[in-house]
Amino acid sequence: MRERLVIGNWKLNGSTESNCLLIESIKKGLEQQPASAKVVVCPPLVYIAPMVEMLHDTNIQLGAQNICEHEKGAFTGEVSASMLTDFGVNYVLVGHSERRSLFGDTNERVAAKFQAVLKQGMIPVLCVGETLEQRERNQMLEVIDKQLKAILETSTAQQMVSAVIAYEPVWAIGTGLTASPEQAQEIHQFIRNWLKKEAGDVANKIPLLYGGSVNAENAQMLFSQVDIDGGLIGGASLQADSFLAICRS
Ligand code: PGA
Repeated sequence: MRERLVIGNWKLNGSTESNCLLIESIKKGLEQQPASAKVVVCPPLVYIAPMVEMLHDTNIQLGAQNICEHEKGAFTGEVSASMLTDFGVNYVLVGHSERRSLFGDTNERVAAKFQAVLKQGMIPVLCVGETLEQRERNQMLEVIDKQLKAILETSTAQQMVSAVIAYEPVWAIGTGLTASPEQAQEIHQFIRNWLKKEAGDVANKIPLLYGGSVNAENAQMLFSQVDIDGGLIGGASLQADSFLAICRS
């Protein structure tokens, strides 16, 4: 049985006060009705430290939205993987489409970040996905193949299967447009087969998440697909009710 996982990506949102309220509500909700999925939250980096305290008596795990690929040195404004392990961070998103399109994270840099996360014993959550234009040109598989292959420049296929992979079609992120369960399953199956070809049957163990406008209403249908093992949730992770409903789906 593969691990089920729901990751909340808070992006650039929240304050000390609102994060506290959100986490308290999620904690309470999970105490009253536990979810069978593992639950991870990724607050903005400055809120990682206070969050450690808030999560210490829970099963909720901590993730980061980004890291620097370098370990240390003259990289003003950056945070390294080892700094995150200091705070007990378990998961790090790498290659999120907002990082790729707005902050210049190329496939090469994503591969370097992926390796930096692994090296510190954390779990990279590799995000892949096509733009609307690429989908309209039917280039989805080609694009995802390239994004996956790039990781093999820094990491082995065996290391890849100790990660989590999130399929996030760029056109579905924050738009309210969700891939249909069939569209999502098609790509998840492609990713699963790609991993099996590279790494063998252990690829059956890797959690593949879907992300892109997942909400309390559509989560169940998406998560019931055979190769969809949970979700990477943006907007709907900022409200305790919707996030809890997704975690229980
Ligand atoms: P969304 O974001 O759920 O708001 O579409 C998902 C993501 O960017 O990870």
